[in-house]
Amino acid sequence: MSRVIVVKFGGNATENRVSRKKILANIITLNKKMPVLVVHGGGPQISKMMKDAGIKPRFVNGLRFTDRKTMEIAEKALAAINSSITKQINIMGGNAFGISCREGGLIVSKRVKELGYVGEVQSMDMRLPALLFSVKIVPVVMPVSSDGKKTTLNMNADTVATELAIAFRAERLVFLTDVPGVKDAGGRVIKSIKTGNIEKMIKTGVVTGGMIPKLKGCAAAIKRGVGSVQISDGTHGISAGAGTTVVK
Ligand SMILES: Nc1ncnc2c1ncn2[C@@H]1O[C@H](COP(=O)(O)OP(=O)(O)OP(=O)(O)O)[C@@H](O)[C@H]1O
Ligand SMILES: [Mg+2]
Repeated sequence: MSRVIVVKFGGNATENRVSRKKILANIITLNKKMPVLVVHGGGPQISKMMKDAGIKPRFVNGLRFTDRKTMEIAEKALAAINSSITKQINIMGGNAFGISCREGGLIVSKRVKELGYVGEVQSMDMRLPALLFSVKIVPVVMPVSSDGKKTTLNMNADTVATELAIAFRAERLVFLTDVPGVKDAGGRVIKSIKTGNIEKMIKTGVVTGGMIPKLKGCAAAIKRGVGSVQISDGTHGISAGAGTTVVK
């Protein structure tokens, strides 16, 4: 099997209709040549539903604190996004199948108690996405897992995308977000970042919030065998070279 491309589609990016269509068209074309796996987030959609329910979103190092009610809301919001992305790929002539991390034991997680109902990877089973690849179907993954028993756990979508990219030794991992790349202290997009500089950028506050798990994911992916890692917005689809590339 040729090497996989993992695309992380951020919650904001999924809401831009023009770039979303371009990205999905890119994914459909790419999938004719090689396996593509999509992981999506839903940050803004979850936060909006929380506000409607009178709950104030809270983040710790860019990770959402998830109490029981928030978990329920997150699962609903993510399921709706998952179904709409999957549906659109299929309508546009591609072939997609939506799953959560629960299906086929894709990710069994253990609870990070400080964050409420949030999980980190305990074990993975890649057979279901591999099966979908073998029949040229794009797995569309929502970042909700279980602890292997009854408890449903929320996961950061960047972490899920990173772990899946590492498990498949992906050729490319592309984070599509709502900014054109990682910005320096002056607000300019940085073309290329060395993994060795990432901790410092977080410590000095150049990188904050949702960019923290993304850059940590980039560093882990590069160290553990993923070919190339990139952060960009979707205005140019998923073309290589756009935005910020993270290098060894
Ligand atoms: N140095 C930086 N450069 C660019 N963006 C940064 C930086 N530091 C923090 N950010 C923030 O990171 C955000 C992107 O992460 P965020 O988690 O909000 O989106 P996402 O991961 O694409 O979507 P989702 O969380 O729904 O999957 C940007 O909108 C920006 O506010
Ligand atoms: Mg995020």
